[in-house]
Amino acid sequence: MATQTITATEAKPASFFATAPYIPPDAIFALTAEYNADSCPQKVNLGQGTYRDENGQPWVLPSVQKARDTLLSQGLYHEYLPILGLESFRNEAAKVALGAELYGKQRAKLAICQSLSGTGALHLAGLLLRSCRSPLPRVYVPSPTWSNHIQVFSSLGFQCESFKYYDEQKKTLDIESYLATLRAAEPGSIVILHACAHNPTGCDPSREQWKQIGAIMKERSLFPLFDAAYLGFNSGSVDDDAFAMRYVVDELQMEAGVCMSFAKNMGLYGERVGCLFFATGSEKTAKNTQSVLEMLQRSEVSNPPAYGARIASAILSSDDLRDMWYADLTTMSGRIRSMRRALYDALIKYGAHGSWEPLIRQSGMFGFLGLSPYVVNKLKEKYHVYMASNSRISIAGLNPSNVDYVARSIAECLDES
Ligand SMILES: Cc1ncc(COP(=O)(O)O)c(C=O)c1O
Repeated sequence: MATQTITATEAKPASFFATAPYIPPDAIFALTAEYNADSCPQKVNLGQGTYRDENGQPWVLPSVQKARDTLLSQGLYHEYLPILGLESFRNEAAKVALGAELYGKQRAKLAICQSLSGTGALHLAGLLLRSCRSPLPRVYVPSPTWSNHIQVFSSLGFQCESFKYYDEQKKTLDIESYLATLRAAEPGSIVILHACAHNPTGCDPSREQWKQIGAIMKERSLFPLFDAAYLGFNSGSVDDDAFAMRYVVDELQMEAGVCMSFAKNMGLYGERVGCLFFATGSEKTAKNTQSVLEMLQRSEVSNPPAYGARIASAILSSDDLRDMWYADLTTMSGRIRSMRRALYDALIKYGAHGSWEPLIRQSGMFGFLGLSPYVVNKLKEKYHVYMASNSRISIAGLNPSNVDYVARSIAECLDES
């Protein structure tokens, strides 16, 4: 019998990863890395949406500091949390979103699960919703939106449908286009709604517009999935910022999903403190839905991280600490509002070409400047001012020492282009 010889090249199997494509780094994280590597003393980071104090430094909220001290004095625990997360945190988080009264009314019909911050809540929501419907419903996402929305839902196999949210010419919400999209959407579709402080445009529907949006969603049987990553950042008041979610659940009696993040409003960025809850139509549905969430969570992360949830829970379940947190939200949202105004004033002072009124009409963490990618790049290369390529700026990156420089740089760049 003829023997077969195996050569060295044949013996080496092709890499298991041979078909893996190269995916460019996430734009906003790459921008942060570029900023960190920049040695220019005048550099300004308006990229990533992270709060900075008036000295440009990360801010540990006094309420968080106090909760942390209390936790440490009680001793360290490193035990696992239950699969659904820390019960006191889950309940308090849902109470923050719905308000104590509505929470009390709805409690038995809520399915609640702690999540890996807001992103994890969206992902878990996608997993749950995917398990409920076949064929998969479409997911409607506003355009523009937070870049990760499409990535999260398309990675789960959903077809994402972008719809026009923002009118570039008028620099306002395009409510007509929004409502027309909802009217034409197939019943059962999922719609991603920024609960407040729309990222990146800073343009939210008014209360009247929310009511119109809600009415059509109810009529068309569309599923509202709220992304509540910035509660308290618009107005300083969680209650005001939660209007849309509460309206949909209470007034319209609709089923809805809410994806909460405590990254921004408690400054717990790295602790990954989030919560997903569904307001369902009955106690039985809530119980079943929560059991599915528990199974999904088990297979994804087994159980969520404890430390940040303990801090958030300590704040939310103590009257004193909760009041401190409300004051911290006022500090952050107030400083952002005053920097928004200061940038506007300085742009006018330097005669920067363009209409800047939209900037002061916008709210939340971001300003949407409407600059061309050429100008955005020039601001980075020549003036060391960093912002997202769509000219979204994180207003929290501005402070009294750099706002004049940023406005002058924008004015000069626009003159030169
Ligand atoms: C609109 C929006 N949703 C969700 C998130 C999720 O953030 P995290 O996963 O850090 O809580 C962000 C973060 O930037 C965001 O801007």
